[in-house]
Amino acid sequence: MRKKGLFSKMVATYILIISISFVIIAAFLSFWFEEYFFEQRKSQLLTEAQIVSNAAVQYLYGNTPLAKTNDILEYISNYADIDIILFDRYGYAYAVSNEEHKKLVGQQILSKDLERLRKGELIERNNIVDKLFDESVHTYEVPIFYRGGFQGVVVMNTDINEIGEPLKRVYEIIWFSAVFAIFTSGFIIYYFSQKILIKPLAKINSAADKIAKGEVNRRVDIKSNDEIGELARAFNSMADSLEEVENNRRAFISNVSHELRSPIISIKGFIGGILDGIIPKEKENYYLSVAYEEIQRLTRLINDLLDLSAVEAGKFSLNIQEHDINEIIRLSTIKFGAVIRSKKINVDVWLEDKEVYVLADKDKIIQVMTNLIDNAIKYVEQGGNIEIRTKIRGQKVLVSVFNDGPNISKEDEKHVWDRFYKGDKSRTSKMSTGLGLSIVRRIINQHNEDIWFENKESKGVKFVFSLKRAPR
Ligand SMILES: Nc1ncnc2c1ncn2[C@@H]1O[C@H](COP(=O)(O)OP(=O)(O)OP(=O)(O)O)[C@@H](O)[C@H]1O
Ligand SMILES: [Mg+2]
Repeated sequence: MRKKGLFSKMVATYILIISISFVIIAAFLSFWFEEYFFEQRKSQLLTEAQIVSNAAVQYLYGNTPLAKTNDILEYISNYADIDIILFDRYGYAYAVSNEEHKKLVGQQILSKDLERLRKGELIERNNIVDKLFDESVHTYEVPIFYRGGFQGVVVMNTDINEIGEPLKRVYEIIWFSAVFAIFTSGFIIYYFSQKILIKPLAKINSAADKIAKGEVNRRVDIKSNDEIGELARAFNSMADSLEEVENNRRAFISNVSHELRSPIISIKGFIGGILDGIIPKEKENYYLSVAYEEIQRLTRLINDLLDLSAVEAGKFSLNIQEHDINEIIRLSTIKFGAVIRSKKINVDVWLEDKEVYVLADKDKIIQVMTNLIDNAIKYVEQGGNIEIRTKIRGQKVLVSVFNDGPNISKEDEKHVWDRFYKGDKSRTSKMSTGLGLSIVRRIINQHNEDIWFENKESKGVKFVFSLKRAPR
């Protein structure tokens, strides 16, 4: 499953980033805290060493008895949880805080450090196994000075395991919080990426699937105001146009089959009647000529359909060049000479200049003019007027075809551009396919121009379209 892949990759990446950040923060905090802790401890021990030193000096100068000094040692040792041993200036122990160390009293133990201590150095040893006490200790040796002279040493030992105790607790809190934060943010990421990204994507995916399988009325219901919402809206509008195309296609096919069927059925009827002898010999010619008319209608329909499909092939097939629109109008009008004479129509052509050059596909514009003039002739009354005009309007040329005759009805107005739409059946000829204006409009739209019609109050209809003037 592809969506699962995206999801786990995303969540894994985020969690990895968050974990790394938290681990770095936790490590930094632990390190910093350890530093701080030992700083604190050192300054505490120094203060205590100071107190012990004072007590030692008091004893050494005979101001207080040893018992008093021992009391102070014991008190501080309990309070700070350390073992304290006092040494004289030759390294002999003379007072201890811990009963167990009593046996050390009177022994010379410190000899090897004395040189450095005498110079005023503090000595700190971490994690040494004290041979005397047989345990891992942290040792701090502080020299005692009094009246400018070296008077001895305070040694303070702490059990290593005990120093770590409070630190351990803090580490636990820091690392537990980090792990907790990682899990919580992992959960939040999981939840929100599901809600914001994965589920909507899955919805769109499944709708796309359904549409591909033919359910063109499928839509996604996502109203969020972000990119996903935008995607869903774009998807829906794509589905709308797909649906429209699909509906058009169905309507088109049913129209075409309908239009093809009726002439074929009547041709089949007439010829079958003649073959079966149902139609009397003397009527045969009449029915054959009716069948011939039907075949002509079929031919026309098929030609129109071919035109339509050629036009629908798109604007990339247009062959746009500079052409004289007046010439195009003349060419298109001449073809209708015979009909114009037989219907006794008066045709006026008003051309603005001798030559008006436009950017257009000549064949296609001839097709447009032919259709418009054909309509005008079809819908003008016997002995009526037709007016064809060109007008220059800035960078555009407007071409209009007017015929007097009845207006296009309110109801027809909306549909005249539709494929296969024919107005009032009694007035349209049997030859009509209703494809003329839809082909015309497509051609003009592909030129990126407009076409419209105006109903004239004094009876009459005017179709107008625009073309781009050639820059001459
Ligand atoms: N000049 C006009 N005056 C009045 N009505 C018109 C005019 N031109 C078009 N119409 C209306 O618009 C409809 C559609 O025109 P269109 O040219 O597409 O089809 P048609 O002329 O009926 O058929 P075809 O062009 O295939 O012969 C016509 O049936 C008619 O009702
Ligand atoms: Mg027509």
